[in-house]
Parts: sequence; C-alpha cells; structure tokens
Amino acid sequence: MKYRYLGRSGLLVSRLCLGTMTFGNSQWGCDQEVSSGIVRKFVEGGGNFIDTADGYSGGESEKMLGVAMQDYNRDALVIATKCWFPSGNAVTQRGLSRKHIVEAAEASLKRLGTDYIDLYQFHGPDPYTPIEESLRAADDLISAGKIRYLGCSNFYGWQIAKTNGVAALKNYEPLVSAQHLYNLIRRDIEREVLPACEDQGLAMICWSPLAAGMLTGKYRGQAEPEAGSRHGAQAAITVKRYWSEDTNAMIEKLVEVSARLGKAPSQVALSWLFGDARVTAAIIGAKRVEQVAENMDAGDFDLPAEVWQELTDAMPLNMGYPYEWTDINVNATFGKAEAEPRHTVRIP
Ligand SMILES: NC(=O)c1ccc[n+]([C@@H]2O[C@H](COP(=O)([O-])OP(=O)(O)OC[C@H]3O[C@@H](n4cnc5c(N)ncnc54)[C@H](OP(=O)(O)O)[C@@H]3O)[C@@H](O)[C@H]2O)c1
Repeated sequence: MKYRYLGRSGLLVSRLCLGTMTFGNSQWGCDQEVSSGIVRKFVEGGGNFIDTADGYSGGESEKMLGVAMQDYNRDALVIATKCWFPSGNAVTQRGLSRKHIVEAAEASLKRLGTDYIDLYQFHGPDPYTPIEESLRAADDLISAGKIRYLGCSNFYGWQIAKTNGVAALKNYEPLVSAQHLYNLIRRDIEREVLPACEDQGLAMICWSPLAAGMLTGKYRGQAEPEAGSRHGAQAAITVKRYWSEDTNAMIEKLVEVSARLGKAPSQVALSWLFGDARVTAAIIGAKRVEQVAENMDAGDFDLPAEVWQELTDAMPLNMGYPYEWTDINVNATFGKAEAEPRHTVRIP
C-alpha cells in the first residue's frame, strides 16, 4: 500500500480509502458480519483511511464501522465522516449551520464509538449559511479536540477558493481535502475543482472511482444494471450519468488495456486516478470481501506512463469555454510552458 499526504497537511493516508456506504444498506449493501470482514481485509492490506457519513443508511454505516473498528488500534486509523444531509425531521437538522454541525458531529462520535474524528467533511455546499459560520463551528470542534482536520465534498471550484480565503482572513483552520466524483468516465472536476484544490493545497479524494461498478466491466453487453446492485439501486441517477456509446467505447479500451497488463479492469481504473499527483485517494466501495481483495491491488500498482496517457486520450474531456479561449490565446501569448503548472503542491 502506498500512502499520500492529505493535501498540505502532515497526515499520511493510504491512497485507497475504504468507502462504507454499503454498510447497513438493505437494498444494495451488507450486514455487520460482511462489513467487519471488509474492514479486516482493508486494514490487513495496509489501508488506514476509512470514509463514512452520518447520512449513510440513516447512521447505520457509522454504527457498523464503529463495531468493526473495535478490533484495531483507533489511533492507527484515519476516520473520515461528514454532515450536511438531514439528520432528523426538524428544519434545523440539515446543512452547515453552527447548530447542525455541532449536533451532527456529536451524534457521529457516539455512533462511531470514538472520541475524535480525523477528517470531518462538509458533505455539500449550503447556499443559505455564510461559510464564516460553518468554518467557525468546525474551528471550535478542532479546538475542542473532537475533529482533527476539515474537508469538503461536492463544492464548486470557486467555493473551495472562497472558503479557504475566508479561513485565511479569519484565522480559522482551512479545508485540507475535497471529496468529489472522479473516474475515467466522469472527469468534470478537471475543469474547475482540481485546479482550485491544487491552488489551495487540498487533497482530492475521489468517490465512485469505478463509476458505481461500471469500470469493473461487468455491465458489458447488458441493457441495464441488476436491481440489487450499487448501480441498479440508483439507476435513475447512474444510468443517466454513465450509459452512453462513448462510455461503452471507454470500457472496451479499459478491458483491452487490462488484459494486456494482466490486471483486472477495476485495478487499472483505480490506478489511472493515481497517475495524477493532484489525486490523494480513491474511495473503494464494496458489498463483498472479495471485491475489496481484488481492488486492493491498486494500492501499490502504478500504470506505465504511456498506458496512463492511452486511457486519458481514449475519452477526452471537452473542456469548453473559457478553457478553449485560454488554450488559443494564453498559450499563444505566454508560451505553452508558462500555461502549465510550474510545481507540484507538495514541497518536501
Ligand atoms: N461524498 C459523496 O457525495 C459521495 C457519494 C458517493 C459515494 N461516496 C463515497 O465513496 C464510496 C464509494 O462510492 P461508490 O460506491 O460509488 O464507488 P465505486 O467504486 O464506483 O462502486 C462501488 C461498487 O462497485 C461494485 N464493485 C466494487 N468492486 C468490485 C469488483 N472488484 N468487482 C465487481 N464489482 C465491484 C460494488 O457494487 P455491486 O456489487 O452492487 O455492483 C461496489 O459497491 C462510498 O462508499 C462513499 O464512502 C461519497
């Protein structure tokens, strides 16, 4: 297993992060026994980074992770959770108000059976709460020793930049990470979010790195996903998000490249993410222990540079405007080299 720094922080995390959205999910997930087995396989394979959220299966995911964690040294694990989704029926029980953040964090601590959360993440942007209020609440939780680091998820690029600008002005702890949808098929974050993260020194933690299972190649030739799968259970979202002729061509290329390398498509798809130094971790979700066992290989398997490029070129992202303007005019004016990143975020 290889480890990467969580953005500009001093925290080392395994580049595979274990996702626990399946834990306790009765439709497409697993029970306590399988969840504990998944955690065991992950930790024994060198993984230290585990992601959950208060919203997963109404808190069951955090509870099951809490039980599974008891077999391990708590301090050797990096536990990440989130708040934002409704945690109850009251109008106050959602979003990023100070009241909700503090109450949600306390409830997560109880369910996880721990006295601190390593990475506390704002699960989404709250359009109705000033970011100063949310940051101050998180800063207080850090001072109280209840959370160690702050991250965001599903924020826009400008929101990331603004949040850390406000944190710098007010002397609050900044965001150290962002958790976003990123995989070989959906590369939207390359436009605004990844550059914002690089600029602000945030780690990128990728969710749905296998496009909800599609990049395993198991849906090839199928008209639709099975109802009880991660993909099928949310078909209204996932089919629209992923199923197209371009996607099919991408998957055929992935299968061909994987066969050439003697790897499973899932291993190659995960490894592709690590070819970009801006990516810190990929969150692997699983409903069976064997899936984790297969995917763990990507923890220390790096793609040859030319294979990484081949996959990147197979389904290029249409950057659109204003990037096409930049491409024509800025590069012509300053020279190509000047328009490329001059240094990596991490300085030894
Ligand atoms: N921040 C956010 O908004 C957000 C959103 C979504 C997820 N997440 C996080 O990201 C994690 C992963 O998300 P995801 O579930 O969408 O990830 P994913 O890696 O794209 O899909 C995982 C699913 O693919 C299937 N799978 C995985 N490995 C496989 C293998 N080797 N062979 C065959 N099938 C395999 C399993 O589902 P089936 O067996 O049912 O096919 C598994 O549940 C979640 O657990 C959660 O922690 C965060």
